[in-house]
Amino acid sequence: MRSGGWDWLLYRAGHWTLLESVALMPVCFPMQLLLIAALGLTCATPALAADLPPKPVRLGLCAACHGETGMAQIPGAPNLAGQRLDYLRKALQEYRDGTRNVPLMRAAIGPVSDAELDQLARWYSAQAPQPQAHAQP
Ligand code: HEC
Repeated sequence: MRSGGWDWLLYRAGHWTLLESVALMPVCFPMQLLLIAALGLTCATPALAADLPPKPVRLGLCAACHGETGMAQIPGAPNLAGQRLDYLRKALQEYRDGTRNVPLMRAAIGPVSDAELDQLARWYSAQAPQPQAHAQP
């Protein structure tokens, strides 16, 4: 059973992105989980560190309007996925200090620390933009 039969799995797993692996995990059986975990540790770690920063604690709030992956959930909210890191960081600083006086965003960002602000900007900047979920007016 183990001889040769799992080769296709190893091959495919090597080409999975982290997101695909995570999405598939609930439907996978333990053998696949082990393979994914092993490959994740040996191969995917550097890519993971570069592409997906840790999920910020405050992301839940932001996700209500901007989506967890930076694709807007409500009309009028901008997509943030893949936006330049320095631009996002600056925008958030401007909401925080009031230079950008948009009450909605000022309330959402609140008195956030520099470290948290940086995390949020990194998170959204690292996301890949997706096709629009709904047509824009
Ligand atoms: C209630 C909805 C709402 C929530 C919650 C919210 N935002 Fe926003 N956000 C907006 C809207 C609307 C704008 C556009 C404001 C403007 O015109 O400047 C915006 C603008 C932004 C921008 C500037 C984008 C650009 O292209 O200039 C960033 C960055 C941003 N939000 C990040 C966040 C983060 C991070 C959080 C969580 C802490 C968050 N937002 C929570 C609605 C929201």
